[in-house]
Amino acid sequence: MAANTIPVITIDGPSASGKGTVAQIVAKELGFHYLDSGALYRLVALKAMQTETNLVNEKILSDIAKNLDVIFINNDINLEGNNVSNTIREERCGINASKIASYQLVRESLMARQRAFRQDPGLVTDGRDMGSVIFPDSNLKVFLTASAEIRAKRRYNQLIEKGINANIADLLKDIQLRDERDSNRSLAPLQHNTDARLLDTTSLSISQAVNKVLSWYSKI
Ligand code: CDP
Repeated sequence: MAANTIPVITIDGPSASGKGTVAQIVAKELGFHYLDSGALYRLVALKAMQTETNLVNEKILSDIAKNLDVIFINNDINLEGNNVSNTIREERCGINASKIASYQLVRESLMARQRAFRQDPGLVTDGRDMGSVIFPDSNLKVFLTASAEIRAKRRYNQLIEKGINANIADLLKDIQLRDERDSNRSLAPLQHNTDARLLDTTSLSISQAVNKVLSWYSKI
């Protein structure tokens, strides 16, 4: 198969590191498409909860993943015609997404859908395995992280801004649990591979992080 020449920037990292915000702005600056891969896992979790699917049923969960009727329009995510952009951000969706993301069949069912986002003039995507599994030939791989405490604070602000109730201590606990689950699973674990550039944003503003990624990209 001929190599795909459409550029891709992959930004992987732990929960609430700010990678989504940075990826979206980088995509906008470059006029590239944007894929929030975590939203797909959150959507599978939401649909599983709506249909009262047992979260240990890998086969049914993978069928849900394969048949997701989802449309991304600008910042809105429509599942079966309903705008679920805010609902999928709730912590219960994040926690359940992390649980079902450990299943091979679920991950495989979402693979083609993710790769289809690679369209001209380019793509910026964020997640856990964008550079390692989905787009291993990515032009620029970034591993974006920050301390767990700062991430809990950022997630708190993000939820409050959306009018969703939150508690920093609970968020910190969720983040630490999710880090552990995402990093220790056998399939596509969250890890900083040597071919990805490390961007620690603990003491960086969003625009500083964005500028760093843009500067790396301009030099490749
Ligand atoms: O927003 P946050 O960083 O907390 O999570 P997310 O990116 O929306 O992803 C939710 C969950 O989906 C994560 O905890 C991962 O377990 C899983 N995920 C994954 O396994 N692979 C991806 N490429 C993206 C997300």
